[in-house]
Amino acid sequence: EDPVVVNTSFSEEQEALVLSAWDAMKADSAAIALKFFLRIFEIAPAAKPMFPFLRDAGEDAPLESHPKLKAHAVTVFVMACESATQLRKTGDVKVREATLRRLGATHVKAGVADAHFEVVKTALLDTIEGAVPDIWTPEMKGAWEEAYDQLAAAIKEEMKLAA
Ligand code: HEM
Repeated sequence: EDPVVVNTSFSEEQEALVLSAWDAMKADSAAIALKFFLRIFEIAPAAKPMFPFLRDAGEDAPLESHPKLKAHAVTVFVMACESATQLRKTGDVKVREATLRRLGATHVKAGVADAHFEVVKTALLDTIEGAVPDIWTPEMKGAWEEAYDQLAAAIKEEMKLAA
């Protein structure tokens, strides 16, 4: 075994599984972002009024017309990819300090709780499976779960400090 390897729990293969899925999805990111959100609200309808831009637009406004919704969805995908790369390199997730602190405060203010992170995780995995069914494997699922869980843990930690 190479003694300079800091992290053996998240491998190069796992990083590649995360990045390859996003690579296959990103050309269609607008449609995928919409599906991701629809899935979140299917699992947890109560999460909808948390998003001020949805609340302000009114009950019947079509979801696809919200640019901020796409932005949030794409951010979750992109940050999970960055998290995979950091996990492989350092074994830990550290979103840039300023960013993470802001994210903690934003989510506390929006009323996001631990359970919502589980909902978003399930919706994320379902969305990827639906988007790239031919490359989806249990290994790919495991790699995304790990990348997301570590990212969510870093945000939740920051939320505790902001609360
Ligand atoms: C806002 C990322 C999970 C609800 C944001 C913002 C980012 C972000 C980057 C923009 C605000 C800012 O920059 O301060 C993430 C990531 C997540 C995650 C990476 C998971 C790993 C969640 C969950 C919920 C949620 C679980 C609740 C269902 C919101 C809401 C806002 C927000 C309501 C404010 C939107 C607005 O005011 O326009 N999130 N988020 N997020 N997020 Fe998340």
